[in-house]
Formats: sequence, C-alpha cells, structure tokens
Amino acid sequence: MKTLGEFLISDQKKHKESTGEFSAVIHALRLAAKVVNHEVNKAALVDIIGDYGKTNVQGESQQKLDVFAHELFIKALANRKIVCGIASEEADVFIDLQTNEEYNKSKYVVLIDPLDGSSNIDVNVSVGTVFSVYKRLSPIGSPLTAEDFLQKGTAQVAAGYVLYGTSTIFVYTSGNGVNGFTLNPAIGTFYLSHPNIKLPKTGSTYSINEANFATFPAAVKAYLKERKENDEKYTTRYIGSMVSDIHRNLFQGGVFLYPPNKKMPTGKLRLLYECNPIAFIVEQAGGKAISMGERIMEIEPEDLHQRSSFFCGNKEMIEVLEEHLKRG
Ligand code: AHG
Ligand code: MN
Ligand code: MN
Repeated sequence: MKTLGEFLISDQKKHKESTGEFSAVIHALRLAAKVVNHEVNKAALVDIIGDYGKTNVQGESQQKLDVFAHELFIKALANRKIVCGIASEEADVFIDLQTNEEYNKSKYVVLIDPLDGSSNIDVNVSVGTVFSVYKRLSPIGSPLTAEDFLQKGTAQVAAGYVLYGTSTIFVYTSGNGVNGFTLNPAIGTFYLSHPNIKLPKTGSTYSINEANFATFPAAVKAYLKERKENDEKYTTRYIGSMVSDIHRNLFQGGVFLYPPNKKMPTGKLRLLYECNPIAFIVEQAGGKAISMGERIMEIEPEDLHQRSSFFCGNKEMIEVLEEHLKRG
C-alpha cells in the first residue's frame, strides 16, 4: 500500500512543471496533523494528568486544544518556509509569514479550521481539521493582501480534512479526485487506504441540527417534512462535528445541512475554511455543495470569517433540495 509521501511523489511526477512546493505544503500539514492527533488522543487523560485549563509553571494559562492546534499548524507551515501566509478560525486577521526574503518565494497561502467540532473534545467524540490551499494573487515578494485570502472556492489548489476518529484519516483533493490516507499510529505513517473516493449515487441519511427548526427557511422545512413522510427510506445522523458528519456521508451517502436560522441569519459555518474546502472535496467525489442560493465555490468572499448556509452531499439529494429552494 502506498504511503501519503509515495503518493505525493508519483503525483508530482505527473506534472512536469511541478517544483515540489505543493507537495511540501501537504507534507507540513501531514506533520502537524500527526502532532494534533497525538494530543487529541490524550485529551481524555487531561483530568488524570492534571492542570489543563489552569495556569502552568510560568503563570501562563494552559491553552485550549483548538488554540494549540492553530499554533501547531502555523509552526509546521512557517518553520518549513513553504507558505507565505495563513488565515485561521483562531486568528482575527490573516498572518503574513514573510519576515525575510526567503519567505517571499512561496506562492501558496493556507486557510484552516485547526480543530473542527472542538466542543466534542471533552466528551471523547471525533473532531477534525479542515484546510484549503490557494495561490496568492499579489506578486511574489510583496506583502500579502486581503485579496490573497478572499478568493472564490473555485480557485482552490487543494483542500482536505483530517478526521481524528476511531482511526485518523487524512483526506484531500488537488482537483483530480479525492484520496484518503489512514494513519498507522504505531509507525506514524499515513497509508492510501481509500483511493478515489466517490459518493454513492444516492443516500438515505440527512444530518442537521433540527433544534433550530422553528426558524429555518420555509423551503428547508418543506424538504425536511418530505423526508419524514418517507421514514422507511430516510434516517438522521448528526454528530455536531462537521468533518465527522461529512466523512460518514461521503462513504454511506447522505446530505449535510446547516441552514440559516434566527440565531445565525446567514448560517453558522465559515465560508473560507469550512464550506469551501468541504465543497471542493464533495464535488470531486461526485456530489454537490450549495448555499441558499448558489454553488458554494462560486460565492465571492468579502470577509475572512464570513458565514454561509451550507448544504452538501449526494447530487440527487441536493437537487431535490434545490427544487424546494427554487419554489421558495
Ligand atoms: P468549530 O468547532 O470549528 O467551531 O465548528 C463547529 C461547527 C461544526 O463542526 C458543526 O457541524 C457545527 O459547528 C455544529 O453546530 P451546532 O452545534 O449549531 O449544531
Ligand atoms: Mn469548524
Ligand atoms: Mn474550529
């Protein structure tokens, strides 16, 4: 079985113009994912080990795991000098990593949700990391600009997620299908366990936080009502950790729905580092990803942390929802 490293080498050979810079970005993400995995796996031991959440010997407060994951990914990418900037859920503004001439040679920026589903950490439920890679728009050798990060999902060079689940799996696409690599924890190597992932033609699962039903748009209510009237066919599964919900649906078929509601009038999930990367993966696996009105990857971003409604999964199932949305 190929390792992720071997897969990247053979993939790189297919592109004559490749400089190896892209593979280096994935290598760095892989390294950070392994360290985060190690920490996540210890999370339930925290109370036994002790002072997590309190102050450490230097008087600094101990970090929450999502901030820790954020710093780890930044370190892994910055130390290897292979991306020029990062935007993260855990940082208000984008981070320009260019501090000297050497950094200025990189053409890639990364957008990341370092720990997705972090509220599940305390109860030992699967969490993930989501990432997106873009080419900067401003010239190499100049300071980064907001436009380097505010790009449409269609401009993604690569996107992926890591699911820290019963096994840890690294799933990514660079626009030629989706591949999944499972970590062998004994030796710290990711193996190509799930080549060319494709969504089943249709599915029977819908994943949604229905507690917000009262203030969902009428079209979403109608779609849900229709599913319930067909209860022999449909079932619900909702973990509350987007990466986990998406991963299950990717293999078993189904749709993930996060509509707008009164509390979150434009939806909850963040367009740039949650919706777009997952949309790229889902489309590459043969599915569809939309907001209330358009294809997710065609939304023109205006803000780093902007939220969007998000519906994705099997083509057929999303098309039924689209009919409802069109009818209003
Ligand atoms: P994060 O932990 O990165 O803030 O993301 C949480 C997200 C996502 O993982 C999940 O699908 C969604 O929040 C759950 O929201 P509800 O609790 O509103 O259902
Ligand atoms: Mn998230
Ligand atoms: Mn997060």
